[in-house]
Amino acid sequence: MIKAITGTKDILPSDIAKWHYLEKLLRETFHLYNYKEIRTPIFEETALFARGIGEETDIVGKEMYTFKDRSETSLTLKPEMTAPVVRSYIEHSLGAQQPLTKLYYISSMFRQERPQAGRLRQFNQFGAEAIGSKSPLLDAEMIQLAYGILKSLGLKNLTVKINSLGTPETRETYKKLLKKFLEDKKNKLSEDSRRRFDTNILRIFDSKIESDQNIIKDAPKLIEHLDEESKSDFEIVKNQLSKTGIPFQVDPTLVRGLDYYTKLTFEIDSGSVGAQTALCGGGRYDLLIETLGGKPTPATGFAAGVERILLACENEKSFIIPEQSIDVYLIRVDSALETVVADFSSDLRSQNISCDYDYLNRSVKAQMREANKMNAKYVLFIGGDEYKNGMMNLKNMSNGSEEKIPYSNINQLIERIKTNPIS
Ligand code: HAM
Repeated sequence: MIKAITGTKDILPSDIAKWHYLEKLLRETFHLYNYKEIRTPIFEETALFARGIGEETDIVGKEMYTFKDRSETSLTLKPEMTAPVVRSYIEHSLGAQQPLTKLYYISSMFRQERPQAGRLRQFNQFGAEAIGSKSPLLDAEMIQLAYGILKSLGLKNLTVKINSLGTPETRETYKKLLKKFLEDKKNKLSEDSRRRFDTNILRIFDSKIESDQNIIKDAPKLIEHLDEESKSDFEIVKNQLSKTGIPFQVDPTLVRGLDYYTKLTFEIDSGSVGAQTALCGGGRYDLLIETLGGKPTPATGFAAGVERILLACENEKSFIIPEQSIDVYLIRVDSALETVVADFSSDLRSQNISCDYDYLNRSVKAQMREANKMNAKYVLFIGGDEYKNGMMNLKNMSNGSEEKIPYSNINQLIERIKTNPIS
């Protein structure tokens, strides 16, 4: 039997209500902040991610689904959305139409990571990118937006961590300082960190290995060596977060796994999802547009993992989705009335009344069971003596009351269902 690929998941009908609930909340919230949706292709030229995210990152180095198509072009299933959004922004000159372009997305991403709870190979992200302003208020707004969504889902166990990576110039000066500090300790570092020492020294802060942590904890911190602009921008973000009542921690080790960040970086972690704690991450990327061939344009954004968020919601039992229901289930009392029931269903659906009926020629009892299973608000009995007398029986399933409605008067039926909705 062929099974789903490891690290991928079917979202079954029994789960879909949670997704719809979240997607509705997202669209409403993004609208509130005036973000417009963007959808980009599922695959891009590999060079976009290699250049955008950085050759030395784990994503580009180890995790991308890269393949050659029949014309030998190297393509990659998107592991994240920032690079594709920026590619699209440049390609369609979106900045010319709107100097501050605020975009959001909800889409599937692909990373060949080791699957575990909250870590998948195909997963879904929602996120926002605001391209065109260097205002730190926009950075604070990103955090407020992401945090607000998580709070609206009823999540409690959240930690907002922020850091500043400064400008590239500050970072280069700092990297030299860090190199000097680690030089004589290099041999004690793990193999991965020794490699990072030469390729991407800041990522040593990401190491989960205790001996690395022990060495790096005494290292000079980038946040203590920031340039004036980064420092004052960081203060503005902190002030704004305090004003909006968002609790945060400054985490000088928050370097993030993608190379495009400048100045502010942030993550929102949950204590309710096991090892994969990050529900959301983002920050400023003032150089990426230029790196990908556009005019120098400052930008900021974030992305959050849907599966991880839903896992946190489930573990915290943070929201309850009302069971899905239909308006009417039509019960055919005589099997000869099959087409009559079908015609009634069409009439009801054309009036935006959701309904269904039995296509399996089951008994009245079995049809009734089906109506209950579907949480039907009303059941309409068609057949028997009543039908012969030109009537049908409409039963209100929440209070059990019944009403006879003339078979010839479909308008009365529609009116009754629409004007007396049962929530
Ligand atoms: P990221 O930190 O790589 O950032 O991913 C954002 C979120 O996606 C993570 O916090 C996590 O919730 C989710 N995620 C990542 N990998 C997986 C996985 N294998 N399985 C399940 N969930 C996962 C970015 O992608 C940046 N593009 C964010 C950004 C936007 N920065 C600026 N703008």
